[in-house]
Amino acid sequence: MAVAIRPALAADAAECGRIIFAAFAAIADQHNFPRDFPSAKVATDLASMLIAHPGFYGVVAEQDGRILGSNFLDERSPIAGVGPITVDPAAQNVGIGRRLMETTIKRAASRKVSGVRLVQDAYHSRSLSLYTKLGFVTREPLSVMQGPPLDISLPGYVVRRAKADDAGACNALCRHVHGFERSDEVADAIMRNTAMVVEHLSRITGYATQIGYFAHAVGETNEDLKALIGAASVIAGPGFLLPTRNHNVFCWCLERGLRLVKQQTLMTMGLYNEPAGAWLPGILY
Ligand SMILES: CC(C)(COP(=O)(O)OP(=O)(O)OC[C@H]1O[C@@H](n2cnc3c(N)ncnc32)[C@H](O)[C@@H]1OP(=O)(O)O)[C@@H](O)C(=O)NCCC(=O)NCCS
Repeated sequence: MAVAIRPALAADAAECGRIIFAAFAAIADQHNFPRDFPSAKVATDLASMLIAHPGFYGVVAEQDGRILGSNFLDERSPIAGVGPITVDPAAQNVGIGRRLMETTIKRAASRKVSGVRLVQDAYHSRSLSLYTKLGFVTREPLSVMQGPPLDISLPGYVVRRAKADDAGACNALCRHVHGFERSDEVADAIMRNTAMVVEHLSRITGYATQIGYFAHAVGETNEDLKALIGAASVIAGPGFLLPTRNHNVFCWCLERGLRLVKQQTLMTMGLYNEPAGAWLPGILY
């Protein structure tokens, strides 16, 4: 029977989670890199969250009632974010990833988003080739940085937990740096109590939804970014994503003992504004 692509349902979460874990573990093991997900349970929790969240669209590939892969689209902002996309290791390289991706791109087009973005593992030649053939353009090499909290404060820069009424200033900053807002993501992070702001000269000059893999940060300058990274009580997930071309902050992190986990690639389709400030992207957005 042919492979069908259909919307993901709550009942699919366990099988999607098993495949997300297995697919990422297989490619990481093959290249001797650390695994993205520590267990199938963590991947299943993520799949459950993405399927249930109204801001995400999920699809699965199915054949004879058996799920072979899944893909997700973060629709919370004018620039949609793709991923995680995974195909069961036993069914890879026969066109299923391409179909999951094409369906997701069509969905983004139907919602008239300004652009679509994703982050891929630089060592994964297949995904880099597939995404490029589908129309994604390589924009930025990213360094995944991990380590114990730095516990560093910068003189003149005050980092504190973000409150609901900071959202306007955070969104204005993001608009200034990226040309659009990520207001839903900021609101989510403030509600979850993970968002931080940095104040300099009594003004909010930077924010982070968290310092970590599934979060993003924006600052007017590199000093704002350093203040946010230095104050983080934890670096969540496999690490935070630092644009490698930001030589100043990359050196600063390395000199303070943070470790480079791996290289990734930011790719986009449609609108992409070269950021006008300091920034850390997230894996999904
Ligand atoms: C990445 C992934 C989703 C792709 O799905 P897939 O079903 O294996 O890929 P497909 O067979 O649909 O497409 C592979 C394409 O890349 C091409 N390709 C593969 N290796 C290539 C290489 N080294 N150079 C050039 N092209 C290559 C294939 O020819 C094919 O192109 P085509 O669609 O034009 O024929 C899947 O391999 C996977 O789950 N990997 C592990 C998890 C992962 O890395 N996910 C992505 C996170 S960003």
